[in-house]
Amino acid sequence: MTSSSALVSLSLLAALVISSANGACTRFFTAEDAQSVNVPSNLDPELIPPQGNVPIAQLFGLGAQHYTANGTAWVLTSATAELFNSRFENIGVHFYLPHADPKGGQPSWKTPCPRSLVTAKRVFTAPVQNNNIPWVLLEATNSQGSCGLFGDVTYVQRLFTKNGLPTSTAPTDINATFSSSYTSFYVFYKQM
Ligand SMILES: *[C@@H]1O[C@H](CO)[C@@H](O)[C@H](O)[C@H]1NC(C)=O
Ligand SMILES: *[C@@H]1O[C@H](CO)[C@@H](O)[C@H](O)[C@H]1NC(C)=O
Repeated sequence: MTSSSALVSLSLLAALVISSANGACTRFFTAEDAQSVNVPSNLDPELIPPQGNVPIAQLFGLGAQHYTANGTAWVLTSATAELFNSRFENIGVHFYLPHADPKGGQPSWKTPCPRSLVTAKRVFTAPVQNNNIPWVLLEATNSQGSCGLFGDVTYVQRLFTKNGLPTSTAPTDINATFSSSYTSFYVFYKQM
């Protein structure tokens, strides 16, 4: 075998490995999903990422916000949710890192296939309305997996929230926990 044919077989092998890795992804995010992004045009300007960032995906989140009592109030400690595309296929999860990353990011979203992850920190929180968790803008502090949906994500919006606030009853025990189910849409942005 000459060295140039060896090179060709190597790149063929790489192509096969990549295609079979993607082939295992049966619930891929599609162009159809990208077209379903629907950000209201009258959104509070502080919820809108800087110019140059464009929405690439909108996912439906279904899960719970988790609170811990600090003695006088319920304090948000994390959230867990399943993420669905426009065909209601489960394509990823929302979770919190155990500790904030060096840039202050903790809420995270990841897809298993192709693998991708974005972690972000809140930069704006809109006022709470109608007993739903607030709409927020988060700026990415870390993203991984350029082949996956969340690689290179720069901003995340949480919009159209439903429920998820802690109980209005003040906690009696320090470290008591309370989980509150919620739904929302998450819109993911990349720099173009
Ligand atoms: C508990 O959290 C509330 C709301 O964040 C805060 O105002 C209060 O100071 C906290 N109390 C303690 C004991 O840390
Ligand atoms: C509450 O949890 C913290 C952190 O785990 C712990 O240090 C503290 O002792 C706990 N307090 C009570 C009253 O259980």
